[in-house]
Amino acid sequence: MSEQNRGSRIAGTGSCVPERILTNNDLEEIVDTNDEWITRRTGIKERRVAMGGNGESTTALASKAARRALEMAGLSGRDLDMIAVGTVTPDRQFPSAACMIQRELEATGCAAFDLSAGCSGFLYALGMVNDAIRCGSCTNALVVGVERLSTILNWQDRGTCVLLGDGAGAVVLTAANGNKGILSTHLQADGQFGDLLYSYYGEDVPPSLLEGIDTKPFKLAMEGNRLFKRAINCLADIARQALEHNGLTAEDIDLVIPHQANIRIIQGAATNLGIPMDKVYTNVDKYGNTSSASIPIALDEANRKGLIQEGDRVLLITFGAGLTWGASVLEWHLRGHA
Ligand code: ACO
Repeated sequence: MSEQNRGSRIAGTGSCVPERILTNNDLEEIVDTNDEWITRRTGIKERRVAMGGNGESTTALASKAARRALEMAGLSGRDLDMIAVGTVTPDRQFPSAACMIQRELEATGCAAFDLSAGCSGFLYALGMVNDAIRCGSCTNALVVGVERLSTILNWQDRGTCVLLGDGAGAVVLTAANGNKGILSTHLQADGQFGDLLYSYYGEDVPPSLLEGIDTKPFKLAMEGNRLFKRAINCLADIARQALEHNGLTAEDIDLVIPHQANIRIIQGAATNLGIPMDKVYTNVDKYGNTSSASIPIALDEANRKGLIQEGDRVLLITFGAGLTWGASVLEWHLRGHA
């Protein structure tokens, strides 16, 4: 591989979700809502909730996902030069989740940092790490998206608590021919719309059904309706930029892995792009919106189900708090046959 063509490819994927399933029917006991409303407006049927003291901290979920990705890549923590973690719910303000995961993986000495970009955290981290590999500052890296949104939910706000869930996903990136792995990453943000989805200082007593879950001293607030419209346009616009950059059209894409916020947002973006839903991977029904974890969890599921073949072109698209959004086009060469 010439220095000029140096880039990265995904060599392993992994994910981990908490054991506890919270169904729409369970939520009826917590807030004034019902399965029919949640299903029709969002496509979500259930989500996972990490229970405190259950070995399901942010660090623990992410480390399990990371180990699975490393195993698939045939690497160990000691082989890593960099760990980048997209999250807004680290276990501690500091040290970073990345350093805490590093300790679990015994990846001593490599660079490790967290990155805050809301639901786009994973794709932002993927873009930054790909650039680091491309310019030669590292060779093997771990990129993680992990959230425990249950710790920052206002469980009395039916407009938000029904949407979100917990989980972790990870990929191992390794140096490769840049024309055959991650073809591009496009990242954008607009802080003018930060008030559509933000955190505020506030405590909340968890509902008795979820006794034992952790809570943080800040909560999530959202203006769902305005976000909804903006999300579809941003996702479609950035996907178009990414396709154009690579000289591709929507027909050239084999699989789209979108951020799993809401099935109607996903369908709206797919329609806008002229991509049929049978080329779009969704699991929002099972996990809800897991923020920065949603794309790597979906990617890992699709990969392990054999839905992505060597040489396939995969489009990742995301949108989240900031506002932030992004797209990445991959040519899939998991086994390095590039
Ligand atoms: N159960 C029952 N009724 C509800 C619920 C609920 N859980 N939540 C809101 N309602 C009611 C509202 O009070 C309102 O009642 P009203 O008409 O009597 O005033 C009615 O349902 C309609 O409310 P809207 O907010 O207008 O409903 P909408 O169709 O916009 O759906 C939703 C709301 C699902 C939040 C949608 O706007 C959405 O998905 N937005 C995107 C937000 C999102 O996904 N954010 C996550 C992070 S950003 C990202 O990842 C893209």
